[in-house]
Amino acid sequence: MSPLIDRHGRTKRKLRISLTDRCNFRCTYCMPEHPDWLPRASLLARDEIVRLAGLFVDHGIDQIRLTGGEPLLRHDLLECVRDIDALRERGLSRLSMTTNASRIAPRARELVEAGIDDFNVSLDAIDPGTFRRLTRREIAPVLDGIDALADAGAKVKLNAVVIREDNEKDIVPLLEWAMARGLPLRYIEYMPLDAPGRWKRDAVLSEAEILAAIGASHRVEALPRGHDPATPYVVDGHYPLGIISTVSNPFCSTCDRLRITATGELFTCLFSPVGVPLGARLRDGADDEALGAQIARAVWLKDAGYASRPGPVDRPLTMHAMGG
Ligand code: GTP
Ligand code: 5AD
Ligand code: SF4
Repeated sequence: MSPLIDRHGRTKRKLRISLTDRCNFRCTYCMPEHPDWLPRASLLARDEIVRLAGLFVDHGIDQIRLTGGEPLLRHDLLECVRDIDALRERGLSRLSMTTNASRIAPRARELVEAGIDDFNVSLDAIDPGTFRRLTRREIAPVLDGIDALADAGAKVKLNAVVIREDNEKDIVPLLEWAMARGLPLRYIEYMPLDAPGRWKRDAVLSEAEILAAIGASHRVEALPRGHDPATPYVVDGHYPLGIISTVSNPFCSTCDRLRITATGELFTCLFSPVGVPLGARLRDGADDEALGAQIARAVWLKDAGYASRPGPVDRPLTMHAMGG
């Protein structure tokens, strides 16, 4: 089947699948303290997720990332992973997961064995107080989770959203903690996708400001930018650091990603105001050909990206329901 290409000439290779919008954390930059969860009956069942995933793989998607909410809250997670892992036969080459890691310790090994190639773990500060303020939860289970992933031989990267005056002072301590453990880290500019009304442009610490904070005590060199959302840097000549600067320096011109929510809505851009209800079409009995045509059409119409729509998005779904 033909690959998915948009009208700006960008071929799609990556799909993020949100397995659930539920999360056991309440990160302030991601959701309100008391979120409205999606109706349970609307969440896709495993066979529905796997059918959609297979369709995307048949259309040239070769990398799938499982997200949430928190994927570990999905009761049939292991079966989902095994079924999606089986899509390698159809062209899948990488299966990843983004997690808060708080519940992963007892499951790390079985997830690796079931087919997860690499994990991105959210860790916004190493100071327990700052971590608690940002996530409204404790850091200890997360650190246990990271240790368990390392023990299981998993590839792990860390993600840290930086918010002015919230965890600005934690940038260097977190970096040094990650460097000491050899865990690659990416700092992420705060995006306007959180609880409505909370994000303020002034709260965004830009890539340049993050670099300045690190540059005061470490040597930082830029590397050429690839397709990754993060601009790559090398710290002190050896350590790989990334900065995802969607607000100050978006990577939209090379965007190769798509996402589906836990109800099967396709969002061709993280900042799209509306999704394409593939899950509802599937439940109405649409066949693979009809779904494939709908996906191809939606992808073709994909927006240029954040630069064309800077600022908060007017839609009910906050980041936790979009899969991060
Ligand atoms: P790899 O680069 O394959 O490791 O994964 P990833 O960085 O896409 O995955 P992850 O879930 O760790 O996402 C990290 C951050 O990248 C998210 O928090 C977002 O800030 C940003 N991001 C992910 N997908 C998109 C996207 O489609 N658009 C934009 N602008 N940012 C994204
Ligand atoms: N801005 C930037 N990144 C965010 N994430 C969640 N909400 C936001 C936001 N408003 C990140 C989390 C996680 C990833 C999946 O999404 O830190 O690492
Ligand atoms: Fe891609 Fe949209 Fe994100 Fe830009 S903002 S990188 S176009 S998903």
